[in-house]
Amino acid sequence: MTVLLTGGAGYIGSHMVHALVEAGERVVVIDNLSTGFSAFLPEGVPLFIGDAADENLVEGVITAHGVESIIHFAGSVVVPDSMRDPLAYYRNNTMTTRSLLNAAVKCGVGRFIFSSTAAVYGNPDQVPVSEHALTRPLSPYGSSKLMTEIMLHDVASAHGMNYVVLRYFNVAGADPLARIGLATVGATHLVKIAVEAATGQRAKIDVFGTDYPTPDGSCIRDFIHVSDLAQAHRAALSYLRGNGGSVTLNCGYGRGYSVLETIEAVRRVSGRTFAVQYAPRRPGDIMTMVADTSRIRTTLDWAPQYDDLETIVAHALAWEEKLFRERQDEMPHAASA
Ligand SMILES: NC(=O)c1ccc[n+]([C@@H]2O[C@H](COP(=O)([O-])OP(=O)(O)OC[C@H]3O[C@@H](n4cnc5c(N)ncnc54)[C@H](O)[C@@H]3O)[C@@H](O)[C@H]2O)c1
Repeated sequence: MTVLLTGGAGYIGSHMVHALVEAGERVVVIDNLSTGFSAFLPEGVPLFIGDAADENLVEGVITAHGVESIIHFAGSVVVPDSMRDPLAYYRNNTMTTRSLLNAAVKCGVGRFIFSSTAAVYGNPDQVPVSEHALTRPLSPYGSSKLMTEIMLHDVASAHGMNYVVLRYFNVAGADPLARIGLATVGATHLVKIAVEAATGQRAKIDVFGTDYPTPDGSCIRDFIHVSDLAQAHRAALSYLRGNGGSVTLNCGYGRGYSVLETIEAVRRVSGRTFAVQYAPRRPGDIMTMVADTSRIRTTLDWAPQYDDLETIVAHALAWEEKLFRERQDEMPHAASA
């Protein structure tokens, strides 16, 4: 019983690989390393460097490793990039999943977990937003994920596959042991940017919009710790193995923090101050995005461990400090240049 993770060398996927290995599961990873890092994988985990859209590769891995479930993280994740180059997102998110599903169906894989996103909702009419809410994505990124959800639903119905779609809210934090974390250069995640500022890697942090009708005027987000998210996938896997039916679930804590509160938490936890620049609202930004978590809490056996903003920040900061030190050590020293 092996679990195939596509994108397992990425930020969230690597946390999942560690969680599964620690639980004694057999795993295999396919990742093209476009944004992932082979060093994020625990020793002994087979990594196939290649594309999740390569059906021959996927079929070969499924057959050789006896894959019974697929967790599909591979994809492109930067919303503004998707605005600039929509076709790249429809290719790497929607079309790649089409090929992956084709291979999965041909090989008779019966369980599939898909990384979706709260971006499928667009601007919700009601907050907290439930899975019943209308889906009106504001970006090609969100649309590419929604199209994939629809495709997965149809494929599963036709071929006797069961799936869990997990719609992540704002993923943040890092492995509590600081072994892995978010290392993507130019990442746009708020907590990442703020800890980069706190470690002196950025001169300032921009806040887009301070005139929203929220308590402090800035946008509100529901942050979920990446390790809790990995455990939600483990719970989803157990659910499917127990013959649970196909389902779509929000993944958040159901509590929002404003952008300004989050920055303040980073200042408090790090004990460092950094410049904040206030800028006008950014087109496409959603004011408040908080998950209604009742469905995931009743469907899965999942108990979050790190539902606390300061803990999320502390883990992100510890990882960032380690990453910064390592990157400085790798830089050639002036004296030896
Ligand atoms: N980070 C978030 O806040 C967030 C929120 C919602 C949804 N998601 C989804 O979660 C998934 C993982 O995101 P992440 O933050 O870990 O990003 P990431 O960029 O760190 O990880 C993506 C991984 O997939 C690999 N990859 C990309 N395209 C591939 C392909 N065609 N074939 C094989 N490997 C490929 C990359 O090399 C990387 O290792 C993505 O599908 C993303 O859309 C992320």
